[in-house]
Amino acid sequence: MSLDRREFLGLSALGAGALGTGPMAFAGLDTTGIAAAERPLRLLILGGTGFTGPFQVAYARARGHEVTVFNRGRNTQVLPEAVEQLTGDRHLGELDALRGRRWDAVIDNPSTLPHWVHDMGKVLHEHTERYLFISTVSVYDFEGLTHIDEDSPVLSYSDGDPLDIRAETFTPAIYGHMKAACEHEARRWYGERATIIRPTLIVGPRDGTDRFTYWPWRLARGGDIVAPGDGLDPVQIIDARDLAEWTVRMAESGAPGNYNAAGPRSRLTMAEQLYGIRAALSGDLELQIHWLPAAFLAQHGVSAWSEMTTWFGPRDPVSEVGIERAVAAGLSFRPLATTTADTLEWFRSQPAERQATLRAGLAADKEAAVLAAWQARGGREGR
Ligand SMILES: NC(=O)c1ccc[n+]([C@@H]2O[C@H](COP(=O)([O-])OP(=O)(O)OC[C@H]3O[C@@H](n4cnc5c(N)ncnc54)[C@H](OP(=O)(O)O)[C@@H]3O)[C@@H](O)[C@H]2O)c1
Repeated sequence: MSLDRREFLGLSALGAGALGTGPMAFAGLDTTGIAAAERPLRLLILGGTGFTGPFQVAYARARGHEVTVFNRGRNTQVLPEAVEQLTGDRHLGELDALRGRRWDAVIDNPSTLPHWVHDMGKVLHEHTERYLFISTVSVYDFEGLTHIDEDSPVLSYSDGDPLDIRAETFTPAIYGHMKAACEHEARRWYGERATIIRPTLIVGPRDGTDRFTYWPWRLARGGDIVAPGDGLDPVQIIDARDLAEWTVRMAESGAPGNYNAAGPRSRLTMAEQLYGIRAALSGDLELQIHWLPAAFLAQHGVSAWSEMTTWFGPRDPVSEVGIERAVAAGLSFRPLATTTADTLEWFRSQPAERQATLRAGLAADKEAAVLAAWQARGGREGR
């Protein structure tokens, strides 16, 4: 298994830090028509000012919940009125602001280090009804698996006690192992009161990684576009807003257990994703998508995932995790067209220098060179 696939999702609080985009209408989430929940909750959101957190905050407020966020207070984003902000650094175990308080539910967004979950469990397990941990599909031990659901085996860490791993000793290669160990800590402290949510690639407006954004942006530029494989490889993504809204509803329902959070509802292929994005773009676009075989791309140094974003390679089961349990528990999906249009609108509202340097995707000169090499060979496109 490639390192890319192991480490691919997340690493929010360890490396990149919060990905907030500065002042704007809070998270830009349209809360029109959102009905109040049957029972208002006292909700503690750990993190809450990064990528998905602000959507949770906005949605939870619209549902009528009392919201507290806990983070280091480094993000300049102005929180909505009535959201309480408590501060502390989880690297340093600074949790005093939370002691002696009670919450109906806690959503833990940024934890990748098991000791974060452990330390928090000590302080909160007797003072909260429910703990929701945002994990990742990278916890699965994909080796040899052709189908993945919530009962599939997860990674275990054998190089020592995961509770000893600190930011300084963490490496991306152990991301999945550490998230699995975090899940273990969550169950240890909260038992049946734990809800584990395992998202696939989280996308949409405010995504600081550009992994999905690359495709709407690239297609909107038009011209000759390099795409990977034969178009039939599976893809899974989850709009951060769908994930955030459902997470809050899971806090309300209190459903226990593990849930994969991936979209869309039915199977999506790479070609369906790209032509779906194309259909959502307005204007007279002149473009041609060239499907180049995976082996040819690899020979020419084009990487799955970081350059051919959202793609893991031919028929990879990581992009086909079962979502039946989450759908039965109320996970719902915006159309790909909405995610595309909103992502592009958001990206175009960013400062020019941010727009000029995408953080993922194939560079224009490399794309042209690879396509020229393929055409010089007179190759037939596809797998
Ligand atoms: N992105 C993906 O595609 C993807 C896919 C699968 C799973 N995931 C998982 O999804 C979660 C999503 O995270 P997110 O970025 O959306 O979370 P978030 O809650 O929106 O943002 C990260 C938050 O953590 C806070 N934080 C960072 N370091 C901290 C510290 N030392 N102590 C206390 N608070 C700290 C940040 O605020 P301050 O900086 O002010 O402290 C910020 O509020 C992560 O657990 C990730 O593993 C991500």
